[in-house]
Amino acid sequence: MPQRRLFVTTALPYANGSFHIGHIMEYIQADIWVRFQRMQGNEVHFVCADDAHGAPIMLKAEAEGVTPQQLIKRIADERPKYLQGFHIEFDHWHSTHSEENTQLSQDIYRRLKAAGFVYSKTIEQFYDPVKGMFLADRYIKGECPNCGAKDQYGDACENCSSVYAPTDLKNPYSTLSGAAPVLKSSEHFFFRLSDPKCKEFLKKWLEDPGRLQSQVVNKAKEWLEGEAGKALGDWDISRDAPYFGIPIPDAPGKYLYVWLDAPIGYLASLKNYFDSGNAKAKGDTRTFEEFLTAPDTEQIHFIGKDIIYFHTLFWPAMLHFAGPPYRVPDRVYVHGFIGVSGEKMSKSRGTGIDPLRYLDLGMNPEWLRYYIAAKLNGNVEDVDFNPDDFLARINSDLVGKFINIASRCAGFIGKRFGGQLVTGDDHALLCKLFDDRFTSYRPESLRNLYDAREFGKVVRYVMELADEANKELDSLKPWDVAKEPARAAELQRICSLGINFFYLIAMYLRPILPGTAQLAEQLLNHSLNWPQLGSKPMSSALLPPGHRINNYQHIMQRVESKQLDALLDVPEIPAATAPAPQRHAEHQQHETKRESTVSEPISIDDFSKLDLRVARIANAEAVEGADKLVKLTLELGDSTRTVFAGIKSAYTPEDLKGRLTVMVANLAPRKMRFGISEGMVLAASGEGPGIFLIAPDSGAEPGMRVK
Ligand code: 2FM
Ligand code: ZN
Repeated sequence: MPQRRLFVTTALPYANGSFHIGHIMEYIQADIWVRFQRMQGNEVHFVCADDAHGAPIMLKAEAEGVTPQQLIKRIADERPKYLQGFHIEFDHWHSTHSEENTQLSQDIYRRLKAAGFVYSKTIEQFYDPVKGMFLADRYIKGECPNCGAKDQYGDACENCSSVYAPTDLKNPYSTLSGAAPVLKSSEHFFFRLSDPKCKEFLKKWLEDPGRLQSQVVNKAKEWLEGEAGKALGDWDISRDAPYFGIPIPDAPGKYLYVWLDAPIGYLASLKNYFDSGNAKAKGDTRTFEEFLTAPDTEQIHFIGKDIIYFHTLFWPAMLHFAGPPYRVPDRVYVHGFIGVSGEKMSKSRGTGIDPLRYLDLGMNPEWLRYYIAAKLNGNVEDVDFNPDDFLARINSDLVGKFINIASRCAGFIGKRFGGQLVTGDDHALLCKLFDDRFTSYRPESLRNLYDAREFGKVVRYVMELADEANKELDSLKPWDVAKEPARAAELQRICSLGINFFYLIAMYLRPILPGTAQLAEQLLNHSLNWPQLGSKPMSSALLPPGHRINNYQHIMQRVESKQLDALLDVPEIPAATAPAPQRHAEHQQHETKRESTVSEPISIDDFSKLDLRVARIANAEAVEGADKLVKLTLELGDSTRTVFAGIKSAYTPEDLKGRLTVMVANLAPRKMRFGISEGMVLAASGEGPGIFLIAPDSGAEPGMRVK
């Protein structure tokens, strides 16, 4: 009988874009936790789905000339490559654009309405008469009513920070069509979050011990109690057609707001998992409802810190007031963001690390899993990917301290002793050593750390054990002993000790390094199962006496710094169709191949934000250790800039010196491995090889603006 039955989810990713490193970090975190729980004998159902609805997806599909369903499918088809690539094993993946989600969302809506938690009210909202749709705040811009700054969004001014309603903007325009929006009234449905019953319920739910991290409770309570005297208001849960979403029952032309149906997608995916027989195949023969209503089921969500609001206020309130079989989440585990070398991640673009590029470069997914684990804790803290730190942790710790134990000892055991470990008294001696000196590394010591998602501490602890193991081997010097045939028994003892250390470490790291664990199992000819020692001594966790292992096969390579350079040195080649400057050339190329259409339209105001200048390449030099980069010194008339450009494959420094080109002069400086890059030069590239630097016509002078 499993002790715990867990229903675990990660946040449902929007179906309008590829995974970025932030998604991968969350999945790795949850996957490690899930694998650990399974090793403890607990039953886990780990599900996710595409978050398919909402205006951005509808508009993106429209801009690409495809249906939202086609867009979602294209994105969904990419998913397995990432998930398998990083050894992330969900039990099930579904979509919020599904029958199950429609049924569950409409059911929850009806129940909330019947319980008196939904009411309707007519509100006035901006409407784009050209596009024929109501405009969310982010699609409206205009002049700030306070300072007059142009092109400010409908909610707050980036210039003077004042906050206002979109209707306060002067000369507002729709960012979709450029048309002046008109005010139009429409009936909307609201969820009564301000109801005292709701507040009372949420307060209790938030305070339930063990449910949430304290930082999360504090944040949610601030919202609940009301910031600056503004109590939690009711929640507008309807959108007018045209909208890609779930129709509201008995309200033609009205759809549920995407954030209402998105979390219900957790349940829709679980339902599809049970209804399709997938759960049965994994050993759970119950129905979806039986599982959901079982008192020992735990519902656990892994999410990022940006969506705490939805998961700790709206979601539990919806579930609670909808009533059984729905249950409130038992735990919500929140993590921070991942940045690269101190740079923050952009939610839409991710960071400079492209997960697919990582895999395409042949980098081992286990390295990233290990590195992310080493940086994670149970708090809501951001994680920084630092290439030097990555190199050190993989090469010195993971390979140098852990994998090396096997490569040092398994060879001797294989060649000299037919793969056999010590037996009899020699085995007893080995047991005694563990029982005398290594009891603090019993498996139980790691259990709470894993369960509390303190993976950084897990890694530190296990590496401490690896240090001890290496110290032991260093002092016993098997390589010297091996030179003296008379000391064969001693050599077998030493190497058996080493193999047992390796066995324990591989077992302890198995949730983090599932691929490596498989290779270790092959080598050790033994499964890596978590031992439940109870009152038994530490030595009962060891390999049995006389156990035979297999021949040593290579387990893990070191990371090379040039791989990290290739991963992080983003060639600065903005192809005409690629809107994201942080993307890599290769990736852009296969995107261009796939998406022959031009990107979403931008307004002339968006374009005018780019400060493009004619620049003279005053100097160009190769960058030592970088395959793709050339360091350029650019003259802009009255100033000079240093820019690292990924054009080495097409130009030698000599070709470049003295030429005129065009640069983006107002790109925020970016820290790269070799220094700060203060802009970007423009070059063209297509599907085939070749990078072509843009040059102005003769007569242009450095510093001239390009418009
Ligand atoms: O923020 C996001 O990426 C959302 N797509 C997360 C949804 S989580 C759940 F509610 F579906
Ligand atoms: Zn302003």
